[in-house]
Amino acid sequence: MKPDERLDELVTRVLASAKYQHIQRDVVARVGATELAAGHTLKDAIKSTRRKLHQIGAVYLSGRRDYGAALALLREAQSSGQPAQTKEACRTIMRAHQSSRERISILESFYQDLFAPLAPVKSVLDLACGLNPLSIPWMPLTPGARYHALDIFHDLMAFLWQAMPLLGVQGSAEVGDVLAESPATPADVALLLKSVPCLELIERNAGERIVASVPARHVVVSFPTASLGGRRDRGMLATYRRRMEQICAQRVWTVREHLYDSELAYVIDKAGPAGGGSDG
Ligand SMILES: C[S@@+](CC[C@H](N)C(=O)[O-])C[C@H]1O[C@@H](n2cnc3c(N)ncnc32)[C@H](O)[C@@H]1O
Repeated sequence: MKPDERLDELVTRVLASAKYQHIQRDVVARVGATELAAGHTLKDAIKSTRRKLHQIGAVYLSGRRDYGAALALLREAQSSGQPAQTKEACRTIMRAHQSSRERISILESFYQDLFAPLAPVKSVLDLACGLNPLSIPWMPLTPGARYHALDIFHDLMAFLWQAMPLLGVQGSAEVGDVLAESPATPADVALLLKSVPCLELIERNAGERIVASVPARHVVVSFPTASLGGRRDRGMLATYRRRMEQICAQRVWTVREHLYDSELAYVIDKAGPAGGGSDG
């Protein structure tokens, strides 16, 4: 088989499984090409591609995803006219993604702490978003703010396209690879929440490159404080603090740290202390 045929075969076989069928084809091809180039047999390359796709995305989503039911729940809550009901529906839906599930208990303070000093926030880019756009009701945004979300799952992004208008923003949801492209439209704030460790499994130093190139002056970067099994780990905190120092080491960015029970977050101002630094 020629190299291109091997890659096509790998992509087709990986996308044939229910667990990976909704992942953007280019992402499967990028991971698969690296595994084939490492000299694996086709069979082993398919296996290791599946393992990587599991680690970077599929592991966070609960097995059975019913976005139709999630949308119905959100529509019903929104039509009640009770903001508390909309929040309750969002919390229920966010339980389907490990990252947003872990954030539910800190939502009341998380976005107030991070966004209020940046007010007015009129536009947000949510990179590798998962189900985080369902936290919009907790964000202090200006009415009718623009919210652009990006992730690699087609079904997730189709759901978010329909969900975001119910949350009071001008929302758009794009299936895309943050390692391959940077959003074209600038925003006041970009979010890169708990994704640096996944992205750096595919590209070393992706964190610094993305923070520097994303067209937003303020970037919120965060890390988990517990392992996927839920174990809180002091070593993890030290590792991610060190990683963040490395990401910012060569830059004149201003960085504020916020530590929560389930998340270590940083607000980066790329304009730096004098308000006029480099944006990379
Ligand atoms: C740890 S989760 C974080 C989700 C969300 N940011 C949050 O904190 O709730 C990592 C997310 O990154 C997404 N992802 C992984 N690789 C990506 C890529 N190359 N481009 C865009 N999204 C990616 C996964 O699908 C997953 O939703």
